[in-house]
Amino acid sequence: MTAADRLAKLFQSIAGRDWSRADAIALEICTDSDEKGHHAMARRLRGALRPNGRSMDNGRKQHVSSPDEFVNPLAALKPLTRAVRLDDVVLKPRWRRELEQFIREWRCREVLRKEGLSARTKLFFHGPPGCGKSLTAMALGHELSLPVYVVRFDAVIGAYLGQTAVHLRQLFHFAEVTPCVLLLDELDALGKRRGNPLDVGELDRIVISLMQELEHADPAGAVVATSNLPQHLDDALWRRFDLVVEFPCPARRDLCTFGQAIAAKFGLRLGAPLTRRVVAAKSFAEAETLIESEARRGIVRVIEAENGRAAP
Ligand SMILES: Nc1ncnc2c1ncn2[C@@H]1O[C@H](COP(=O)(O)OP(=O)(O)O)[C@@H](O)[C@H]1O
Ligand SMILES: [Mg+2]
Repeated sequence: MTAADRLAKLFQSIAGRDWSRADAIALEICTDSDEKGHHAMARRLRGALRPNGRSMDNGRKQHVSSPDEFVNPLAALKPLTRAVRLDDVVLKPRWRRELEQFIREWRCREVLRKEGLSARTKLFFHGPPGCGKSLTAMALGHELSLPVYVVRFDAVIGAYLGQTAVHLRQLFHFAEVTPCVLLLDELDALGKRRGNPLDVGELDRIVISLMQELEHADPAGAVVATSNLPQHLDDALWRRFDLVVEFPCPARRDLCTFGQAIAAKFGLRLGAPLTRRVVAAKSFAEAETLIESEARRGIVRVIEAENGRAAP
């Protein structure tokens, strides 16, 4: 194929918004340059194609180790494999009902579609850290028998103008052809990226691209976005979601029940001093860490006592 043919195909793919094909052709052009001995040019083209491509120009290796990884949007995705049921997550009754309804609708999505109704597939979880947003996304994957992939934003954000939009398109394309839970975890991380290497204009463009993708996406599974700082997110972004769930700071009563369940797992009794610390925790994650530290200390004490007895 001549260079002109390749370019024509590349432009056709761009015109048809077939980003995976455009990527594949772009990569062919890089390989072709290499084969012709134009290594500097091949490096430059790959740098333009890859996430954070800027530093590729310096010949430094990025976290993207092979060209295939980038063509495949899985380079930006990390599978989460923790098997957790929705019943294992402490939720406010209202949100549990909503999520259970979501799961029931999703399971009936084919019938709903025939009736001219689409199942809800785009969820937004917000609330302080450590209160169960990511855990619930994993539980949804388990309940829907779908793999869960968390998006690595560092791999999505490209240094070149428009590159991030292409990456987002690839990710949503992936979610449309792959039944999975696509977890856009801590969406506000995008907001924190103001300045280096993005300017505010680029950030605005990213948010617009994200909104467009959400608007038009028809995920084969579900897309779950989470945020610890929802006030930093564009108001218009919220409207793109079918279901918004709040994960508030836990009440003392919930922390107490949760603490007892975690302690029981380790055969630990929650005494009054530890209970006081557990119910004062700011999140379930903090309460869990407190109990796990106590359990760890207890086990070490027992082992050391046994070793002491065994010593001559
Ligand atoms: N609502 C909850 N119910 C049960 N465990 C929880 C809950 N929230 C947090 N945890 C525990 O804390 C860990 C971290 O919570 P995570 O879901 O990652 O928080 P975030 O809201 O920041 O995404 C979880 O893996 C789980 O062990
Ligand atoms: Mg999280």
